[in-house]
Amino acid sequence: GGLFGAGGRFKGGTDPIMEKFNESINFDKRMWSQDIRGSIAYAKATQRVGILTVDECDAIVDGLERVHEEWSAGTFELRPGDEDIHTANERRLTELVGPLGGKLHTGRSRNDQVATDTRLWLVEAERDILKDLASLLDAAARFASEHIDVLMAGYTHLQPAQPVRFSHWLMSHVAALTRDAERLSQLVPRANQCPLGSGAMAGNAFGVDREFLASELGFDGVTSNSIDGVCDRDFVAEFLMWHSLLLVHLSQFAEDLIINNMLKCVDIDDAYATGSSLMPQKKNPDALELLRGKAGIAIGRSVGIMATLKGLPRAYNKDLQEDKVPLFDAVDTVKDCLAIATGVIVTMRPNPKMLMKALCPEMLATDLADYLVRKGVPFRETHHISGACVRLAEEQEISLDALTFEQLQNIDSRFEEDVMKVWDYEMSVERKSSIGGTSKARVVEQIEKCIAFAKTL
Ligand code: ARG
Repeated sequence: GGLFGAGGRFKGGTDPIMEKFNESINFDKRMWSQDIRGSIAYAKATQRVGILTVDECDAIVDGLERVHEEWSAGTFELRPGDEDIHTANERRLTELVGPLGGKLHTGRSRNDQVATDTRLWLVEAERDILKDLASLLDAAARFASEHIDVLMAGYTHLQPAQPVRFSHWLMSHVAALTRDAERLSQLVPRANQCPLGSGAMAGNAFGVDREFLASELGFDGVTSNSIDGVCDRDFVAEFLMWHSLLLVHLSQFAEDLIINNMLKCVDIDDAYATGSSLMPQKKNPDALELLRGKAGIAIGRSVGIMATLKGLPRAYNKDLQEDKVPLFDAVDTVKDCLAIATGVIVTMRPNPKMLMKALCPEMLATDLADYLVRKGVPFRETHHISGACVRLAEEQEISLDALTFEQLQNIDSRFEEDVMKVWDYEMSVERKSSIGGTSKARVVEQIEKCIAFAKTL
């Protein structure tokens, strides 16, 4: 048993299996610097209420800074019984400064300590991820801008639908990722509230100034209720739900690219593909398949935390220790996926020839209907007329634009000579000129807005 397991109340040591089962040091050591920062702030707060003299406080802060240096230098040595990062740091502090180290924990509990460390750690990670997202959004928008003139086939139900700009398609994914960035920035102020000073659950018995603690640690404010303060893990749940939605979006993007790569419409750079051990001709888009696949476990993590929290009685329960591994994994996965997605985007090569080849005149059937609308015919009728044209072309086994003017006129006499101008993909695209449409000006607008937004992150 370590600091707490071997406390006065206990006669025997813990079963080694229990020790292994119970410990969290193997993963929560990632929060070593947050834990030390929290302790330094707490030492100062207890000095301010007279628990520590100025000299004692200085000695403890000094000792904590030395512990910090050891972690930084990679020389911190874990000992058996270092159950978690809080006990490990306090054990080492006490070795360095003597029994005085035992004063630090006055009025504090690992319950408010772990909640504080986790929030500090996550807020840093969220800010970091926002920067990564900003780079991705900026890079994608600039890539869209470079390829603004490239057209491609748009699909619904994976059936040819309407021509769009390649950049418009790319910006459609950027739109979803922009919402992810907005959402993440909205999580930060809720996560960035200080639970330190909640004690084990009832509050702090020594009157520490919690607002001082919050401002020392860079929190926006203090949590409002000590019972909730030690067991609230909404910030973890929110982040995990957030990350699963982000990865759903990256998964959809990856799937689109996998299809476009199969159609040879977009070439993926060798840097993000792999070969086959057997088939020499192979270039597999593994980066994209992993991007698509990561969402599965991510969704599992967000469902997992909800299941852990469901039915927990107030206040702290050890179940809460189970939040760390999925949280750390989620942050690592998000950072990897954003880096890969950014790399894939800036190195991919749209192939204008193949993208054009994927376009077919049938994708202009709506434009044919719209032509008659502009001659005053109600759309419900023009839809039917254009449908008859599609059927005739199918029967004749020719493409829609190969129907002669006479054939069109036979179907409806309101077709005039200028109907032949309908077979123009660029014109079709440029007609979609309302906000959010695929016309060049509207896509440029989306791109500019995105680049400006990325700068705010
Ligand atoms: N390792 C614990 C966790 O991660 C720290 C809090 C433990 N508190 C307690 N009373 N056992 O949740």
